[in-house]
Amino acid sequence: MFEVRMTSFDFNSKTALVTGASGGIGAQIAHRLAEAGAVVAAHCGRNRAAADQLVGEIRANGGKAFVVQADLRDVAGLPRLYETVTRGFELETQRPQLDFLINNAGAGGSRPLMHVTPKHFDEECEILFRGTFFMCQLACEHLSDGGRIVNISSNAASSALPYQAVYAAAKAAVNHLTLSFAQHLGHRGITVNAVSPGATDTALIANLRARKGFDESVQRLTALGRLGQPDDIASAVMLLLSPEGRWITGQIVEASGGMSL
Ligand SMILES: NC(=O)c1ccc[n+]([C@@H]2O[C@H](COP(=O)([O-])OP(=O)(O)OC[C@H]3O[C@@H](n4cnc5c(N)ncnc54)[C@H](OP(=O)(O)O)[C@@H]3O)[C@@H](O)[C@H]2O)c1
Repeated sequence: MFEVRMTSFDFNSKTALVTGASGGIGAQIAHRLAEAGAVVAAHCGRNRAAADQLVGEIRANGGKAFVVQADLRDVAGLPRLYETVTRGFELETQRPQLDFLINNAGAGGSRPLMHVTPKHFDEECEILFRGTFFMCQLACEHLSDGGRIVNISSNAASSALPYQAVYAAAKAAVNHLTLSFAQHLGHRGITVNAVSPGATDTALIANLRARKGFDESVQRLTALGRLGQPDDIASAVMLLLSPEGRWITGQIVEASGGMSL
């Protein structure tokens, strides 16, 4: 058993866009931000019902949130997404600026390296790498000075994974673009970091977890001896968004309980 002690953060009057908030890690980040007082734009791709439910729960708890929907593979649609988000912030706070961008949306499957097709390659790169890059690029216009970007990467980026070669390479690309945007935005006091989860209990790895022995092998490989939970990742994100994280930029912070040390 482990004990989770929640630290309270004060993000009153802050605005945040969380992509992929209809899923495991993104939904928990959205909850934590709203609990801390931020106005949250909760983005979803296909699963509008899950995002509506999340926003309903946040509002029922006294928080402020609204849903935005967009397929992040459609780069031409991203300016429209930002327009909707900033209009939503203006309605709630009388100012359109974005304070926190959390690029969390992601997808990926397992496929032997020799069975990767150009279509599969493009699909994974479009959501993981291209989507994140252009979300960061457009954020430069909308972020307030002193704002924050956190990209959700993966510890897969630094391992040899013949069954997830494209996913891992796309996350390595996310790590690198994090450095470039950190350099580009530093003069405005904006920090840009990546949080790199290890195996975390969400729908994304449900297929892997269905394999016999998967959970046990994760426990064995993890110094803290358990599978990650979405809130473990949300806590790392909150730390980077908080004033305590002000001097951390251009870093890839692994939140994996010490996997494969
Ligand atoms: N779970 C893990 O073990 C693990 C480990 C390392 C890194 N990560 C990373 O953590 C992040 C969150 O993953 P998760 O585990 O929480 O997965 P998840 O529960 O499957 O959630 C994925 C989210 O991404 C959104 N999304 C996927 N494709 C999209 C697209 N084309 N356009 C817009 N939104 C899209 C989904 O939205 P809809 O469902 O609404 O389409 C969903 O909200 C991902 O970047 C993932 O790579 C996860």
